[in-house]
Amino acid sequence: MQFDVVTLFPELFAPFLSTGVTRRAFESGQVNVRLHNPRDFAQGNYRRVDDRPFGGGPGMVMMVEPLSQCLSSISCERPDDVPVVLFSPVGKSLDHAMVTRWAASRGAVLVCGRYEGIDQRFIDTHVTEQISLGDFVLSGGEIAAMALLDAVARLQPGVLGDADSHAQDSFNPALDGLLDCPHYTRPEIWQGRAVPDVLLSGHHVNIERWRRNQRLLLTQRLRPELIELARNAGYLDTTDEAVLSSYNCGLPDPP
Ligand SMILES: C[S@@+](CC[C@H](N)C(=O)[O-])C[C@H]1O[C@@H](n2cnc3c(N)ncnc32)[C@H](O)[C@@H]1O
Repeated sequence: MQFDVVTLFPELFAPFLSTGVTRRAFESGQVNVRLHNPRDFAQGNYRRVDDRPFGGGPGMVMMVEPLSQCLSSISCERPDDVPVVLFSPVGKSLDHAMVTRWAASRGAVLVCGRYEGIDQRFIDTHVTEQISLGDFVLSGGEIAAMALLDAVARLQPGVLGDADSHAQDSFNPALDGLLDCPHYTRPEIWQGRAVPDVLLSGHHVNIERWRRNQRLLLTQRLRPELIELARNAGYLDTTDEAVLSSYNCGLPDPP
């Protein structure tokens, strides 16, 4: 799997690619990331990559030619018909389903915009998909690219120390799509707040039930639409439904 990242700021990626659990995926080449700077394909002494917008207005626009040349050079190295992703606030919001799809893919070219954005003619001729990190505006696409690469890397076999880690994470439709339960570690009491007794009991069946209840109740409270999806997919049994109805009746959370 190879991701070719087009960015005016490749130096931003160095610490990201060499830090944390996902480092293993990047350093082993399991998720191969190559960085390409459109400035290397710009003309003139100043290697200009941006210019003022036609029609006036604030800011600068990334020029089509350096981006296009940069993409041609990537295409020479990988002649496969690779998707070209542009990170943009107007794109489809990144979610677990998209990450899972990219995690099982051959990779892509990831284009990071800057300034007011990039010349529309590059988007019209080359971009196959636009991805957003959410309904807000970043200064550049690099953080969005890192978000996608991180999420893809942690889904690769052997990258997380415990293979169950990501299986139990929030939003996993292979499990049930619910939110994750709360987690605690030492000390048992911190500033008068104790860890729930059940987690110290050593009773694995009760612990599992407590975690399941927490996941159900948290999801019901914060993301009720995910409960509906889990129900429709047949992931909720009668015990789960009883837990949820006790919550709906305003009864205290079950232990
Ligand atoms: C300052 S933004 C341009 C915003 C653009 N003028 C607009 O209002 O839609 C510069 C670059 O940051 C990236 N970017 C900004 N917000 C983003 C978001 N929510 N998701 C993904 N990329 C984003 C894009 O690559 C964009 O070209």
